[in-house]
Formats: sequence, C-alpha cells, structure tokens
Amino acid sequence: MKDKLEQIKNKALKMLEGAKDLNFLQTIETNLLGRKGELTNLLKQVKDLPNDQKPIVGKMANEVKNEIVDIIKNKIVELSQADKISSTPLDMTWPGEPAEIGHLHPITQFQRKIEDIFLSMGFEILEGREIETPKYNFDLLNIPKNHPARDMWDTFYLEKGLVLRTHTSPMQLRAMETRKPPVRLLVPGRTFRHEATDASHETTFHQYEGLVIDENISVRNLLSTLESFFQTLFGKEVKIKANGSYFPFTEPSLEVSMSCLICHGEGCSVCKKTGWLEMLGAGMVHPKVLKNMGVDPEKYSGFAFGGGIERLMMLYHGIDDIRLSYKGDLNYLEQF
Ligand code: DAH
Repeated sequence: MKDKLEQIKNKALKMLEGAKDLNFLQTIETNLLGRKGELTNLLKQVKDLPNDQKPIVGKMANEVKNEIVDIIKNKIVELSQADKISSTPLDMTWPGEPAEIGHLHPITQFQRKIEDIFLSMGFEILEGREIETPKYNFDLLNIPKNHPARDMWDTFYLEKGLVLRTHTSPMQLRAMETRKPPVRLLVPGRTFRHEATDASHETTFHQYEGLVIDENISVRNLLSTLESFFQTLFGKEVKIKANGSYFPFTEPSLEVSMSCLICHGEGCSVCKKTGWLEMLGAGMVHPKVLKNMGVDPEKYSGFAFGGGIERLMMLYHGIDDIRLSYKGDLNYLEQF
C-alpha cells in the first residue's frame, strides 16, 4: 500500500506540473480526490489494514493528500491569473494613467526668474562651488586672516581647512581666472552661515551675485542696473536708494534698498515704518580685488552686488517664514 501511495503521488506531481489550463486541472483533481478518485479509494482501504499498520499508512496517505491539495490550490491561482491577462483585450489607443509629476522647488523657480531678467540685460549666468577654500572665500576678496571683517561671515569649517562658502562673492575671482573685461556676470547659488535660525534667517540660503567690469563703469551704472532689475521683477512703481555701507571688497560700498511694496513708502510693519526695504550689498570693486583678478584698475572699473534670493522670493510671494522653504512640506510646496 505504501508503494501504491508513492506511485500515485509521483504520477500526480508529474501531471500537475504539466497542467496548462484550469479544465485539465479540474480533471486531475476529480480523478485523484473525487468521490471515486484514486487517492480517495486508497484512503478508504486504510481501515482494513492490520492495527499496527493503520496509523503509519494513514498518516502517510494524509500527507500525500495534503501535498497534492496544496499544489492544486497554487496552480489554480497561477493559471487563473495568466488566464485573466491573456483574456483582457489590449487597446493601444487607451490613454494611460496620468503620472504624478512634481515641479521645481519654489526657490529654483524663483532663481530662474532672476536669471531670466539678467540674461535679458546681457549677463552671463555662472554657477560656483559650495565648498570653497578660505583663499577665495576671504583672502582674494581683501578679507585677510585675523581681520575683524571675517566675523561678518562666520562659517562652517570643514576638514583640510575648507569652508562652506558664506557668500557667492568667491566666484567673482574664479570667473575672472578665465575671462577678460568687459564682463557681465550673474552667479546664483547656495550659501551657508553659522546662524541661529528664525523666521528670516537660515543656515542654508541662496544668493545672487553680480559683477560688471568694463571701462568707465560708475555707481550710476550699478544703480540703474539694479533699478531695472527690481522694476522688471516687481513692476514699474518700484524705486531704489543707496546708503553708505562697508564691505572689504568694494570701495565705496553701498546698501541698496527698494521702496516698500506694501505701503509704497508710507511706512508699515513690513518695512518697519521706514518706507524702504534693504535688499542687497553692493559697491565698486576694490582696486585690490581687481588686481587679484589680474585686471588693471587704472584702465578698468567695475561694480558688484550680492543679495539673498529667499528675501526677494518672500517679498514677491508674501511668505513670512524662510524656514518653510526647507521643510519639504507638501502643503507649502504644492502652492507653487
Ligand atoms: N557678499 C556679501 C554678503 O554676503 C554681499 C555683497 C556685498 C556682495 C557687496 C557684493 C558686494 O558683490 O559688492 O554679505
């Protein structure tokens, strides 16, 4: 009887393996496990065996039965899936599932808006590196070691004395290594500072840096360029003004402000009742820096400026917390 069981099992396994459709599977199942099935008949005979044989053969017969039932179940699932796929009509013209596509981050979108305006004024757009050497971040910009002005750009120092750049200004010098005046350059990019964060300060932010060098460049050129930029971005009614300031790499140095977009100069909480919003630092490129660029300060002069992209974007869209842009919060991001 044991041999017979073994025989039935082997035959069943072979047939099941080759089963290609559900009808055939059904036939195999009936022949084996149906009321008059081969295995059913065998199981019925177990009761006639001698007492000491009954439990052993009975157990074995049940194991074979369970194994076959499991295989049949799996085969049914497998074949019915294959059946479904092959019986679904394939219409190649049917529109596909719409893919969920994201979009550029609001800061990138806004950076491109700035780039477009400067491109239209004949500027070349350049990108710099986020990890800088102190030589480019400070020294060549006339900020010597141990000079208190370095405190204005407290930064994150990395291994091997490298720094996360604190401003986009180092690119002024890198760009001039491969260029000669006249140049008009705009360098947007990510910058880093050792800051305590709040609604208007982040350790990571973006700047846009401008550099124009040619013969007879004056403060007037600087101011008219910036005025055109702000007017194109915000609309014709914007005015700008410049106050004296200090940067080691410019002489004279200026702080450029724009008339308040909210109150148009009357005074409100956004402009702290002054009617003006400070927008960026700027100035005429210091003769020492021109020399570091290999440019003759007797023949050429230039202006430079640098401002925060987030600050501009927040005013443009009416956003009141810079940290929103770095949270990855979809409720915020999906509004752009
Ligand atoms: N790099 C300065 C800063 O991050 C901003 C700046 C001021 C850039 C004057 C300039 C400039 O190019 O001329 O605070």
